[in-house]
Amino acid sequence: RRRRFIPATAMAYPIHRPRRLRRNAVLRDMVRETRLDPGDFIYPLFVVEGRDVRRPIVSMPGIFNLSLEHVVAEARHARKLGVPAVLLFGIPNHKDARGTQAYADDGIVQRAIQEIKAAEPDLQVIVDVCLCEFTDHGHCGVLEGGHVVNDATLALLAKMSVSCAKAGADIIAPSDMMDGRVAAIRAALDETGFGELPIMAYSAKFASGYYGPFREAAQNTPTSGDRRGYQMDPGNVREALKEVALDVEEGADMIMVKPALAYLDVIRAVRERWELPVVSYNVSGEYSMLKAAGQNGWIDYERVMLETLTSMKRAGSDLIITYHALEAAKLL
Ligand code: PBG
Ligand code: ZN
Repeated sequence: RRRRFIPATAMAYPIHRPRRLRRNAVLRDMVRETRLDPGDFIYPLFVVEGRDVRRPIVSMPGIFNLSLEHVVAEARHARKLGVPAVLLFGIPNHKDARGTQAYADDGIVQRAIQEIKAAEPDLQVIVDVCLCEFTDHGHCGVLEGGHVVNDATLALLAKMSVSCAKAGADIIAPSDMMDGRVAAIRAALDETGFGELPIMAYSAKFASGYYGPFREAAQNTPTSGDRRGYQMDPGNVREALKEVALDVEEGADMIMVKPALAYLDVIRAVRERWELPVVSYNVSGEYSMLKAAGQNGWIDYERVMLETLTSMKRAGSDLIITYHALEAAKLL
């Protein structure tokens, strides 16, 4: 029998059929490259003074200013859902020019650390170290003639870090964007017996409009000027790599890109250059956009939430700080 020659072009076309691996849910799951896990998330908490306070943040539905007992309950809830860490922000009643409540050993953050650790010893308590929630002018450092002075601020950030370490914090996370703060904090921790405490540096932190809703949550809006003199310009990626390099050199144990969604290229670039764990911060405005569109019925909220978090992990994040943490953990 003569074999008939079948030219490739006459065979069932196209030859490459990626859809073969999309035929059913089990198969799709088998070939999925990026998976979310509750263990990827860090959940931010806003602690305020007073008793039985559970004040909703209007621009961030589902997020609250919580007094101590409620913060502990929320932390416990996070742990139960498999979320390994919380990120603490303190909002004191008393604010002054030098943010003294940030490094008061009986300050609101310090008390929250103690109470959370007492209730949930395994939960990792990360503290956002910055002065803007504690200063009456709302800037992240000491002000002199309208300018945030770098070196005078370092000592106060170091003081806050040591004070939080003494209270039992597991990780120190400076978010101020002063030059040299990782080295200053590292030295202060080492000198006070906290040489083992890791630093998660907000390394590439951009001056972003996406922090809008956070201001309602943390009450840290500058009374004059803005943060463009210390946070990064949104157009810069090479500078982001330089900021990360400096933090790594100064002793950072984890490096962060913030915000996340509009900076996925920065996350990818950082991932490709360093071996340290990369953290991305899915910030307040990113959360609020999804909530608002979801509440209007314009998007499928849960689906878009998981897709967004997946994009951050796919871009190279090992960990994601997110207000969606509890909702996402429940779905996973
Ligand atoms: C404090 C700080 C901010 C955020 C985290 N730490 C605000 C800012 O820098 O203006 C933003 C978090 C968010 O928007 O979710 N320096
Ligand atoms: Zn700040």
